[in-house]
Amino acid sequence: MRVVCIGGSLRPQSNTLEYLKRCAGVLEQEGVETEVISLRGKEIQPCRGCYECVETARCAIQDDDFAGILDKMRAADGIVLGSPVYMSSVVPPMMALLSRATFVAHWNGKFLAGKVGGPITVARRAGHNLAFSQLLLWFFINGITVPGSTYWTVGMAGTGGARDALEDQEGMGHVENFARNLADVLRKIRA
Ligand SMILES: Cc1cc2nc3c(=O)[nH]c(=O)nc-3n(C[C@H](O)[C@H](O)[C@H](O)COP(=O)(O)O)c2cc1C
Repeated sequence: MRVVCIGGSLRPQSNTLEYLKRCAGVLEQEGVETEVISLRGKEIQPCRGCYECVETARCAIQDDDFAGILDKMRAADGIVLGSPVYMSSVVPPMMALLSRATFVAHWNGKFLAGKVGGPITVARRAGHNLAFSQLLLWFFINGITVPGSTYWTVGMAGTGGARDALEDQEGMGHVENFARNLADVLRKIRA
């Protein structure tokens, strides 16, 4: 069983990545292989709405890093998405990835369906509910099962670097519980 954890922050020292690394660490303890992927340094162009994928089952944009990440999402049993909250929303590179992934998967036998996953959002103060909901809507439209936790998997962290995230013991705890539930659901689904 393999889970990819994708982080949408473009910052060199990302709090979001720290929550994802903690999630991946617990999954590994539970016997699940993981890969943490950062969108930092990667180019993900926005969907152009050309609908070429309907005809060709592939994205018309081939000169960026989208296809490689989508291959990893396709091969994985689980997908965890981590996004910083900007203006109460998921960050643009993450939404670009998710829009394109959904359309290509849809016209390829809906290959994301049946996987397990969930969202993590990270904000300094406000906007979690909307961003978290945006990610939940993505999991739902793709037929991906989302296990719960002991609270919403939201991190309270603002300044750059790991320090904020690591000090958020409550948030990290809910991420750990989510990861354990994710591993449990994966084992049951794949048994
Ligand atoms: C352009 C911009 C918009 C932001 N909007 C919000 C916001 O709406 N609510 C909030 O609480 N924090 C907001 N923040 C703060 C980030 O969510 C916070 O710094 C978070 O830790 C970033 O995640 P990262 O460390 O993984 O990059 C914003 C930051 C930037 C740069």
